[in-house]
Amino acid sequence: MDKIVINGGNRLQGDVTVSGAKNAALPILASTLLGSGEYHLRRIPRLIDVATIRRLLVQLGAKIVDDGDSVVIEMKRIANCQAPYELVKTMRASILVLGPLVARMGEAHVSLPGGCAIGARPINLHLTGLEKMGAEVKIEHGYVWVKTKRLRGASIHLDVPSVTGTENLMMAATLADGTTRIENAACEPEVVDLAQFLKKGGARISGAGTDVVTIEGVQQLYGVDYEVMPDRIEAGTYLAAGAITGGDVLVCGCPSSYLEAVLSKLREAGAKLKEEAKGIRVCGPKRLQSVDVKTSPYPGFPTDMQAQIMAVMSLADGLSVITETVFEGRFGHVAELRRMGADIRIQGNQAVVQGVSRLTGAPVMASDLRASASLIIAGLAAEGTTEVSRVYHLDRGYEQIEDKLVRLGAMISRRKE
Ligand code: EPU
Repeated sequence: MDKIVINGGNRLQGDVTVSGAKNAALPILASTLLGSGEYHLRRIPRLIDVATIRRLLVQLGAKIVDDGDSVVIEMKRIANCQAPYELVKTMRASILVLGPLVARMGEAHVSLPGGCAIGARPINLHLTGLEKMGAEVKIEHGYVWVKTKRLRGASIHLDVPSVTGTENLMMAATLADGTTRIENAACEPEVVDLAQFLKKGGARISGAGTDVVTIEGVQQLYGVDYEVMPDRIEAGTYLAAGAITGGDVLVCGCPSSYLEAVLSKLREAGAKLKEEAKGIRVCGPKRLQSVDVKTSPYPGFPTDMQAQIMAVMSLADGLSVITETVFEGRFGHVAELRRMGADIRIQGNQAVVQGVSRLTGAPVMASDLRASASLIIAGLAAEGTTEVSRVYHLDRGYEQIEDKLVRLGAMISRRKE
């Protein structure tokens, strides 16, 4: 297994370009199950999670080839309707094949994802939505079995604005009989990107990006060319790294409109942020000021940036309260940041961070994807050497992170453990 070794203390400087968004690429890849034509997808990031969904699609009957910077997918015939435990257990987002399979085949057997390092993460809203659309849903032997002749349009209210829940139901509704209305839908830009992709292939969707999405079912969807949106969380991670090291970093390729909540917190903490033609420039002061942060669904502060901002706050001047409202267990990074000298107390869903004047490098262990990013950010600013193990979490969601950081002047490398 690999580990990442960082010698901290270098001020980051230069340009970095963000890759395609993992959380847009995954539903877009899953939705190629809806059409039998040829899809040409660009800016698909090379990540373990993307490799996992590709394996799943191949197992379901897809032909996938890499052609230059495109991934070409054709799903003429679906060979079976099963997403097995072996794949789903390694990536919860495999649940995204559920909606498309039921829509196209009238059937799906998908292993139930279990809880994970950040919370229980149920899928009840995906299932009750499909039931409302006329599907029969059964849970047996660890699998969810969904069956229907043809889905029909329905009015669905989500108790919480689930991102993949909205995406699954939106994909399912594209081929349903009649009109589906999803209320309290997730407004994340990745939901909008998926809707744009589906619309290009002939789907009739309106309201994506607001809390009511309406989908009028069509008979068929067509293959299209599409470029996936940039990864706003990756962009936010590099902005945080620039800020904590007192650096001067231009993060290219991601519009600032996706990152308002993150930019506003970094600005409040004393970082200088400027929108330039190529991207967003962050200049960090010698020491940032503490700020309070509360995560919430888009356009609020993203839970996927909570661990990274906590690393930044652990070195800021003052006391910061970080409240996590989306996932109940997303504090796996706290104990590891403490091993580096951070002063953090957990009180329920809040982390109380008393900024310290220095962090010191230590061997630490990543518990999930964003926790790994948090530890890397802390390691970049810490004195001495930090070794982050369980790097496979990082490889699920950050393309070439060491290369990108080395080009910004970080001393970071990957070693075999
Ligand atoms: N929830 C339910 N029932 C459901 C679905 C969700 O109670 O049926 C709850 C969850 O337990 C959670 C809240 O609703 O408390 C929001 O969860 P959501 O369903 O929105 O999360 P998700 O769709 O499983 C996606 C991203 C996550 C990101 C969250 C929140 C993908 C593939 N994953 O997960 O990304 O944290 O939305 O923005 O899009 C990451 O990239 O590191 C990551 C974890």
